[in-house]
Amino acid sequence: MTTVLITGANRGVGLALVKEYATGGDQVIATCREPAKADALNSFAMASNGRVRILPLEIADEVSIASLKRVLADEPIDIIINNAAINGTPKEQTYLRIDGENYIHAVRVNALGPMLLSQALFANLRRGTAKRLVAITSSYGSIGRDWDRTVTAHERYAYRASKAALNMGMRSLSRDWAEFGVIVGIIEPGWVRTDMGGKSALETATSISAEESARGMKDCISKLTPETSGIFQRFWGEVLPW
Ligand SMILES: NC(=O)c1ccc[n+]([C@@H]2O[C@H](COP(=O)([O-])OP(=O)(O)OC[C@H]3O[C@@H](n4cnc5c(N)ncnc54)[C@H](OP(=O)(O)O)[C@@H]3O)[C@@H](O)[C@H]2O)c1
Repeated sequence: MTTVLITGANRGVGLALVKEYATGGDQVIATCREPAKADALNSFAMASNGRVRILPLEIADEVSIASLKRVLADEPIDIIINNAAINGTPKEQTYLRIDGENYIHAVRVNALGPMLLSQALFANLRRGTAKRLVAITSSYGSIGRDWDRTVTAHERYAYRASKAALNMGMRSLSRDWAEFGVIVGIIEPGWVRTDMGGKSALETATSISAEESARGMKDCISKLTPETSGIFQRFWGEVLPW
């Protein structure tokens, strides 16, 4: 039996991942900021025959991470999926003006939180069988990729920096935790029709549903090996430049 922990599990890609794993027979620890308000997640969990357990987690809060660790104690976890993130809008983060507090907060949520959570649950991961640590990242975190200024990349300095920092942290863990058998996935989920994907995702043929993304990511995570650990890739295998 595989146990999967997912952050930001109440909506978007996170909720779709919960459904994908639980429907496939896995045990899911679904974390979110406000379980009492997570209606869709609660409904799914209630019908899941005990496969989905919901626990609170505010990824920007170290006390919340420590509380989650206390609840989980030494329970083995096979796969940790760091999915929760913010895009940092509508506060300014453009080439003309950056809102400093907002920038720091985006880095805290998107880059620092996943590192602290991963470290807090390192012993749980080592007790699991699959030992997979996953970060849902974004091609916006690629420094090597050029940008079409007609899209929103130039409005997302905080988001882009935070995802680049996330990539660096996870790449580092992939090297330092290899000796413990931990395999790290740094995976971009596609352009997904969620709140974060935005209105334009609804209008383009190149976007995908959260369900398609979750299916693809589950497949990608299952195919990770020590050789592909720490590679920055889209879920369909395309390797992205750092
Ligand atoms: N959608 C896309 O096109 C796209 C493209 C590239 C990468 N991604 C990445 O894919 C992942 C999922 O994105 P999505 O499209 O599903 O986004 P979304 O629909 O905006 O959902 C974001 C999730 O993160 C949670 N979250 C935000 N801040 C949090 C915090 N401080 N603590 C705990 N949870 C928090 C949200 O919870 P609340 O409901 O409590 O706010 C929500 O569950 C993210 O890592 C994102 O960067 C998405």
